[in-house]
This record gives sequence, C-alpha cells and structure tokens, in this order.
Amino acid sequence: MTAPILRFQGDDSPFRSNPQESFTIPARFYYDSEVHEAEKKAIFQKSWWFCGHRSQLAEPGSYLTVKVLDQSIVVVRNQTGDLKAFYNVCQHRGHELVQGSGRKAVLTCPYHAWAYDLDGQLRNARNSEHVEGFNACEFALKAVQVEDYCGLIFVNPDPDAAPFHVQAEGLGDELRHYCPDIENMVFAQRDTYDVDANWKVLIDNFLECYHCDPAHKDFVDLVDMNTYRSKVHGIYSSHCSSKVCSTSSKAFTFEEGRDDFGYAGWFVWPNLTIWVYPGEPNISTLQMIPDGADRTIEYQDWFIPTQTPSKQLRDAMVYQKDVLQPEDIGLCESVQKGLKSAGYNQGRFIVDEERSELSEHAVHHFQKLVVNALDARLDPQKD
Ligand code: FES
Ligand SMILES: [Fe+2]
Repeated sequence: MTAPILRFQGDDSPFRSNPQESFTIPARFYYDSEVHEAEKKAIFQKSWWFCGHRSQLAEPGSYLTVKVLDQSIVVVRNQTGDLKAFYNVCQHRGHELVQGSGRKAVLTCPYHAWAYDLDGQLRNARNSEHVEGFNACEFALKAVQVEDYCGLIFVNPDPDAAPFHVQAEGLGDELRHYCPDIENMVFAQRDTYDVDANWKVLIDNFLECYHCDPAHKDFVDLVDMNTYRSKVHGIYSSHCSSKVCSTSSKAFTFEEGRDDFGYAGWFVWPNLTIWVYPGEPNISTLQMIPDGADRTIEYQDWFIPTQTPSKQLRDAMVYQKDVLQPEDIGLCESVQKGLKSAGYNQGRFIVDEERSELSEHAVHHFQKLVVNALDARLDPQKD
C-alpha cells in the first residue's frame, strides 16, 4: 500500500464514510500551503475545469483563454466547427501564444510570429527553411482534453481523465429540466469577487442551506425552504427547491412561472457551482478559483436568452451581486479566520435521515471527494 499524501495527526478526530459518524476535515486543510500544493496536483491537474459557454465560442476561429491555476489554456473552435484546446504556449521559445478572447484565423505568437492553425499545427516559422532537419510537425501545440456538455465547456489537463459526460452522468438531464434552453443561452455578464478564504470554505458553504434561515433573509423569502433538498451523485450534487415563497419577494420580483420550481443549484467537482433562479430563463456559473491557500477568486458568469438582460433578470443579477454574495462572502471570511484559531480544529456534520433542508450531507460528500483525491488518512481506527 502506498503512503497517503496527507496523514491524520494525533489529535485529529476521524473523518468517516458515514456523514452521521464523521467529523469535518481538520482546519489545517483550509490554510496549510502543503495541502494546497497537494491539491494542485491531486485535484486541479486531474479534474474537468469549467471555462465558458458555447455562445462564447460560436464561430470558427473564436477562442478564449482560461487559467487552470498556473497553466494557461486556449480553447478554440476550428474551421470544421470542432472544439480544440491547447496549452497556451508557443513551441518556439515559450512565449504566451494568445491573450483574452476573440476571433482569429491563425494563432500567431507575438514574439517571433510563429503561426499555428486552429488545429494546433505549426504552419509558418520564419526562416526555418534554413534549419537542417527542421520538422514543423514536431512543434504542434500541446493538446488538452476539451468537452462541450449541454453548452458548458470544460477542459481537463489530464490526458487519461474519463470524459466529463461519463463522470457527471445524469447532470445534463437535471440542467435541461431547470433550464431547457441551456445550449442557446448567451453570455451576458461576469461578476468577480476576491475572497479571503480557502476555496473549500466557499464550496462547503454552497453545499448546505442550514445557514439560509439565519444568514439569507431575502433568499428564504424567495425560495420555499421546506422543499429545499440536496442530493449527492458521483462528482456532483444537486440542490433544488420545488416552490417559491413569493413572486414579489424581498430578493426580487417576477411574473408567476412554472409551479414545480423554486430554485436549482448544482455543485460539480471540484470547484464549480451552477445556479438557476425562478423567473425568466437564466443559468449562471460561480467558479471558485484558488489563489493560494487562503484566498479565492470567484467568477460568476450569467447566461440568459439575450445579451442584454431584461429588468427582471437584471434585478436577479443585482440581488446576487449586492446581497447574496456579500452575505456568503462575509460568512466564509469569518470561517477562514476561525479555522486558524487555536480554539478550533474540527466540527460535526449536522445530518438527518431524511436529508432535510437543514442537513449537511452534501458538505460531507464534497469533503469525502477531497479526502479521497488527496489520499488522506483521517481515521486512526480504520486506516
Ligand atoms: S516564442 Fe513564439 S515565435 Fe518565438
Ligand atoms: Fe449562502
């Protein structure tokens, strides 16, 4: 048996498979730079990373760049309409190939103008005809796995990773149920947040609504908490309510919509959350991007039927940006400080048998994915 990457320490309480028997993972997992380094390799270099929506790569030559922590990747739609992804680095002397997003017929390096086609093949290297044995085929861009899933685009630096649609089987049906036109939505807006907390604190927080009554007065006026349920599956969990409390809530107001829907959210391993609010069609992604062990950048991208939001959608976006997110960020930044307190190490998950709206089983599901990915041994009895 290989040695675990992370070991429990003498005074840690056990993390167990059954959420009702388990303690939360130890506090140092949220600020220790060694844990953070281990996560880079064991989690982020092996997982599917959300990078945008089909509408952002609509035409041949459309491209966008994304940073998977310290690795820049370019995603491009080629001339035949397929998506390709490459490490965003020129194969001459290593300059960054392209920046931001846009549309190009050829990817040309700004340093010495080596030019690559949209399939990553080197098409022009100035003066290389004088170099003995120079073979352009040896200098194609290095490919990365890419997948369009219901219009959401993911990349994975691990060439051996199973396809996203296999890993997240079942998620697509749920997304389409709550946002039937998901593939045809268009990108409307990105809101960026800078949070003084470890990325896992933000994910933990998303994964339970035990805190919603005390901390989100307007959200619980909008969404019927009695019907809020979290369900865990493989690499994702869903968090849905089948009823709204009021169409003229303190959060925002909207016309009467479908009567089986209050709110839907999903967590997708490792760092993506997806949201659908009641009212006019909408879906947004909120991705937690680690920036060191105790800081996270969050990108919330909104996808709606037209680029310019209606008043109702604008109100929902403003609520999220000005009310809900500041409430959650305040909670998470306080937790990050508390995790470093000499007076805290681990708590217990509050979990009930019927997996009610107060149950934290989805937090345990996420922490178990972390423990497994890090090959941590946290149970002194069962190790
Ligand atoms: S580094 Fe790109 S052309 Fe030289
Ligand atoms: Fe919250």
